Amino acid sequence: MHKTSTGYSSSQIWLHWLVALLLIPQFLLNDAMSHAWRAIQRGNEVTPSIFIQLHVITGVTIFALVLWRLVLRLTRGAPLPPEPQAPVLKLVGALTHGVLYLLLLLLVVSGGMAWFGGVSVSANAHEVMTTLLLVLFALHVVGALYHQFVLKDNLLARMKRPG
Ligand code: HEM
Ligand code: HEM
Repeated sequence: MHKTSTGYSSSQIWLHWLVALLLIPQFLLNDAMSHAWRAIQRGNEVTPSIFIQLHVITGVTIFALVLWRLVLRLTRGAPLPPEPQAPVLKLVGALTHGVLYLLLLLLVVSGGMAWFGGVSVSANAHEVMTTLLLVLFALHVVGALYHQFVLKDNLLARMKRPG
């Protein structure tokens, strides 16, 4: 799915950083959600606290924003990877982006299936995918730093200034 453009639009840039920002509470404030899930598994009644509602609402918001990003990517496109760069690195970059998008969507689907449908295998998948997301995020940041300081192609500017 690669329609090319000269750079990311301001909406694409805003959405990238907004999704990154919304992920922070998902990782830092999920204790209430995990406790509630375990309580439900034990057969206890749970009254959804504000933190639980926040986890669900933020997750659903991320889902909508990621869909919006994908629509923009299909209709407006994204810039080609900077040159010169080994083909294998371009592939790693493209795969990382693709899997990050996929994980963001699947996290919301699996979370929803666990919370609203009581599917416990979905909760396990949700937990595994949160770890995967962190691993890929680390790879993503290492990649961005490699571009910035080793290849010195100023890749970060693409996610700062619309082009
Ligand atoms: C991109 C969106 C989301 C992210 C990044 C995310 C992240 C997390 C994290 C980090 C945990 C703690 C996992 C652990 O115990 O190690 C968690 C737990 C949980 N989340 Fe989400 N979540 C998202 C969306 C959602 C949504 C939309 C729902 C429900 C509609 C949901 C339901 C749950 C449930 C039920 C748990 C407890 C599962 C368990 O501890 O096994 N999540 N989430
Ligand atoms: C410190 C944090 C971050 C930095 C420095 C960063 C940097 C960048 C840069 C420079 C690009 C453009 C790459 C290119 O033009 O080839 C990019 C794209 C991308 N980033 Fe990030 N990012 C960060 C956080 C995140 C997070 C948290 C996610 C999601 C979990 C994410 C997902 C993506 C995706 C999916 C793309 C591809 C955009 C597209 O081509 O459609 N980023 N990021």
